[in-house]
Amino acid sequence: MTIKKGRVAIVTGAGQGIGKGISLKLAENGARVVVCDINEETVRNVAAEIVANGHEALAVAGDVGSKSDCLSFVQSALQRWGTVDILVNNAGIIRDAFIENMTEEQWDAVLRVNLKGAFLCTQAAMKPMKLQNYGRIINISSSSCKGNIGQANYASAKAGINALTYVAALELARYGITVNSICPGVIDTPMARSVPQKILDRWIATIPTQRIGHPDDMAYMVLAFAAEEAGYLNGQTIFVDGGMQTGLKM
Ligand SMILES: NC(=O)c1ccc[n+]([C@@H]2O[C@H](COP(=O)([O-])OP(=O)(O)OC[C@H]3O[C@@H](n4cnc5c(N)ncnc54)[C@H](O)[C@@H]3O)[C@@H](O)[C@H]2O)c1
Repeated sequence: MTIKKGRVAIVTGAGQGIGKGISLKLAENGARVVVCDINEETVRNVAAEIVANGHEALAVAGDVGSKSDCLSFVQSALQRWGTVDILVNNAGIIRDAFIENMTEEQWDAVLRVNLKGAFLCTQAAMKPMKLQNYGRIINISSSSCKGNIGQANYASAKAGINALTYVAALELARYGITVNSICPGVIDTPMARSVPQKILDRWIATIPTQRIGHPDDMAYMVLAFAAEEAGYLNGQTIFVDGGMQTGLKM
């Protein structure tokens, strides 16, 4: 599986964690990466690291919940490299609480970043992709899409992103654009480390592979969906979770 040298990829939430891992791996494999994040400092650092490794990157700060910022991610790619070939909708946040205690703010914030953000970026990136009859859109969902205690907002957003994947796959297939979802299990990032250790330990204990995931585990799956040869791989939701979703509890 290969990525043609010079393909242009936009990765959101790329300042740290899974998005950073995906950006580094895409660059290593020949893509020019538009590294996007709401955090200006981290996004600049990730782009600088890619360039220091001898690859091409452009840092763009912005909020995926803002339509104009999503348009600016795409516009920046077009101005610099004239095209957008790959979009990875990765930006996400958690605001956990039991339903009984969840505030509207917690609900709205999570739906805005995790779900609306993916919709807005998809809408912005599909235009140049349709014109060139080629595109790879990869949505980072979560194994929580099947439900997780304390995550009504997040689980709903992630189930929503899977539904967005199915609809976008149907609407865009005729333009040579594929749309797929990855559902990570528990991955070692600042987000996972923000969960109370007691809960994190309980989650990790249910992973048949007996280790927490690494951002590279997600990045390799992104490479597979983003590959030139993956044109017939469309509308899929794959769990990359060390086997957590098999129903086998240790
Ligand atoms: N870490 C896990 O265990 C895990 C499991 C399942 C799914 N995921 C999903 O993977 C994705 C990445 O998670 P992570 O663990 O790397 O998280 P993280 O918190 O470590 O990194 C998320 C990045 O997104 C950025 N971001 C937040 N809000 C943004 C916004 N409005 N616009 C642009 N960027 C924004 C943050 O600044 C940060 O750099 C998320 O969609 C998350 O839901 C993570």
